[in-house]
Amino acid sequence: MAEVIDLGEFGEGFRENPHPVYARLREQGPVHRVRLPDWQSEVWLVVGHEEARAALADQRLVKDGTKIGVKSLEEELIGKNLLATDPPQHTRLRGLISRAFTMRRVEELRPRIQRITDDLLDAMLPQGRADLVESLAYPLPLTVICELLGVPEMDRVEFRKMSTEAIAPTSPGKEVDAFVALGAYFTDLIEDKRRAGPSGDLLSELIRTTAEDGDRLSPDELRGMAFILLIAGHETTVNLITSGVHTLLAHPGQLTALRADMTLLDGAVEEMLRHEGPVETATFRYAAEPVEIAGVHIEQGDPVMVGLAAANRDASRYPAPDTFDIRRDTRGHVAFGHGIHFCLGAPLARLEARTAIRSLLERAPDLALDGAPGEWLPGVLIRGVRSLPVRW
Ligand code: HEM
Repeated sequence: MAEVIDLGEFGEGFRENPHPVYARLREQGPVHRVRLPDWQSEVWLVVGHEEARAALADQRLVKDGTKIGVKSLEEELIGKNLLATDPPQHTRLRGLISRAFTMRRVEELRPRIQRITDDLLDAMLPQGRADLVESLAYPLPLTVICELLGVPEMDRVEFRKMSTEAIAPTSPGKEVDAFVALGAYFTDLIEDKRRAGPSGDLLSELIRTTAEDGDRLSPDELRGMAFILLIAGHETTVNLITSGVHTLLAHPGQLTALRADMTLLDGAVEEMLRHEGPVETATFRYAAEPVEIAGVHIEQGDPVMVGLAAANRDASRYPAPDTFDIRRDTRGHVAFGHGIHFCLGAPLARLEARTAIRSLLERAPDLALDGAPGEWLPGVLIRGVRSLPVRW
């Protein structure tokens, strides 16, 4: 039996900076049995880059836990979603939504994303100092995804509270209440839109979408789709913008290089994703049959987590992996996952982050950190800080 490593034993330090722990694990091997902080049961954690990519593409590691007898509270509360299904159901669901997130469709949002960014900066810049999360990094992706899906403006404050509790609960257990509240919210929203008739937003479109063969989303699948798009659509990008700006400001040489040549921006955003991406570990997978990864035997039914942050700092793939270098070759990073569950929103997230960071740097030439960042988010799913004080 493999030795179990209790990640909770590394305490607060692990939450703030898990990279040294991941480095030690990688030195010992690409796959480990771990106990997660605030989690009773044990899981397999993949930390090597090559093994992580292989695991993300391995169809023996399934997402629908109900197939192997794992009861999903999440599914009961919020419905079937892309990250809880496998082919052929996943293929079908992804087919019904992917048209909305092609590069071309996302490109059409560019002027609106720029406008929202400009408005947020117009409100923020006269103040001289601000919390970047509150002023820009959170409201930009939230507004974009809410407008895209058609979440009424008056609901957004309430929605934000529920969503933040679901992802990063302020006390243990609160996420269950938040999931219940979100499930009820989406049921009502979908019903309102069904009654109101077509209105041009994505959720109305999805309610009425019928594929060529007559296929359409069931009420449960609609709820799951709305949930995954709204949550994944903003709880991640906020941290790309925040961690990206934080890292740049902490590396003056890199910041100067970028300011001097903004054509480096796209590469810089990829390096931000690799170096401190918003998703620390991919969502759970389960071994549908006995699987061997790098000589480690994984029993049927065992949960497996793929460490994206760990894989992205594997020295065998990225030399001097802890160094933040906006000119490095970041190809192959797994910040958006890999395989059939590769992030649907990657083009949108990239466009939002590039727009926000470019506009911020251009309009705040003296931008600097203004004290310590807020606390790091709990858990190993999402990586980011709750606030980032800056001045200019
Ligand atoms: C920087 C921002 C983002 C990051 C780092 C990110 C990361 C990821 C990752 C790692 C996965 C795969 C998880 C797994 O395999 O367990 C994923 C899936 C997904 N993401 Fe994102 N995401 C971001 C933004 C977005 C946005 C803006 C949207 C929607 C508008 C979105 C929608 C989705 C959806 C729907 C899936 C599930 C895809 C599937 O299962 O087929 N994400 N994302």
